Amino acid sequence: MQRNLQAIILAAGKSRRLNTKKSKLTKKICGQEMVLYTTNLLSSLSIPISVVIGHEKESIKSIISTNHNNITFVIQNEQLGTGHAVLCTQDIWEKKYILILNGDAPLVTSDIISSLYENHVKKDAHLSFVTAHNIDPSLNSYGIVIHDDKGIKIIEAKENKHDRIEECCINAGIYLINKDLLEENIHILQKSNITGEIYITDLVNIASQKGCKIETTQAPFDLIRGINTLQELWACEQIKRAELIKIWMSKGIRFATPQDTHIDLNVTIQSGTCIGSGVQLYGSTKIGKNCNVEAFSILENATIEDNVIIESHTVIKNSLIKSNVIVGPFAYVHSNTVVCEKSNVGNFVDIKKSQIGSETKIKHLSYIGNSEIGNNVNIGAGTITCNSNGITKEKTIIQDKASIGSNNSLIAPINIGKDSFTAAGSVITKDVPADALAIARANQINKDEYTKKLKQPSLFEQKKLQKNSSSNLTG
Ligand code: UD1
Ligand code: MG
Repeated sequence: MQRNLQAIILAAGKSRRLNTKKSKLTKKICGQEMVLYTTNLLSSLSIPISVVIGHEKESIKSIISTNHNNITFVIQNEQLGTGHAVLCTQDIWEKKYILILNGDAPLVTSDIISSLYENHVKKDAHLSFVTAHNIDPSLNSYGIVIHDDKGIKIIEAKENKHDRIEECCINAGIYLINKDLLEENIHILQKSNITGEIYITDLVNIASQKGCKIETTQAPFDLIRGINTLQELWACEQIKRAELIKIWMSKGIRFATPQDTHIDLNVTIQSGTCIGSGVQLYGSTKIGKNCNVEAFSILENATIEDNVIIESHTVIKNSLIKSNVIVGPFAYVHSNTVVCEKSNVGNFVDIKKSQIGSETKIKHLSYIGNSEIGNNVNIGAGTITCNSNGITKEKTIIQDKASIGSNNSLIAPINIGKDSFTAAGSVITKDVPADALAIARANQINKDEYTKKLKQPSLFEQKKLQKNSSSNLTG
């Protein structure tokens, strides 16, 4: 297919209807920028691609360039409409067929492109384009395809505020046009009286009037949805997400309430795993076999091995959780932390930039930062590593089988030896040797009979009492 075909993606538009300053093409859908959906699709079909950029051109170029190394760019300096965007590319037309695609149609599939091409070649057409049916009269951002005795034309719904058009066939914004036809007619396109823009869709009307052969290929509306507004962006992401969840369901993953689960494109999950309500899986998160990710947990670029339980409301970012670990509820594991096999990270535990060995327990209310913790270590409730001196971050090392008492402050840099103990409530400032017990807390003093003394009347009060009683006698 690619030998006589080249593609042009239109991605220069201002995205005015989104009501944000950013280009819609940089917005992410299931974790991937919108513009990459079309570039990835066409490059998977080995079609050479050029992208027209203008508004926010540097951001769009950088998104595309970090993902592809063979895409060329054409600059549209002024956003004068889709027809003008195509006109800007005239110097690079070299193949027999030019495939033109709106950059804001992320759900288009390879089947749609292939059938457009096959039909075009088979029917020896001059211009072909993709259509879809939608009877929703509120659709005011599509071009409506009208067949009449004069041929075929596209009327932009936004141009047609008054007439009620009964047609429900809309233009998808995907065209296959013979280079000759483009060269002869692109300069004829006129500015719209209403918007002042030059529309590529007018080429259909022109070609039809000239008696050119025009073909259409039908596609499901959901797959060709264009995104102009935030509602359309939301609807599109819902569809993409549902598509991804269906794929994972077919691979043996159970979703408690799929309608409120967020999942990004590059997330992978292995069979036997259950995903709870409201779970959000972002980036390149990988989840192994037979795991439970319970309600409202958030995983971002997390790698979770097999048989792991992530209890509810846990956040794991950029970290590795090895097999048979239990994390949460309400735990925060982040910044390149590794938790090894069979360990247990409990509720309200925050672990940052740390290595946690296997079968280690950090079960309640702890902060562990910049630490290397060995195997079979027990960290008592409320223990924190004090790793910052205000300027640098220092390391805490806790060797295998050490037992840290509850409510310890471990002042880094510090090394706590193998099989050692620290007493509850300690502020540990010096290294603890292997097998030792470190006690570092203020000595307790018990003041006997203190309460009784406290409640006894003071000397002043005693004198006052005495004075009152003697004056009562004399009175
Ligand atoms: C366009 C079609 C409409 C079709 C719909 C499908 C036209 C005139 N209308 O409408 O018939 O039903 O898509 O979604 O083409 N762009 C540029 N430069 C510009 C203007 C736009 O590169 O000067 C790019 C945009 O970034 C976008 C694409 O072209 O990726 C389409 O533009 P958009 O404004 O979204 O067109 P629609 O109004 O949706
Ligand atoms: Mg659009």
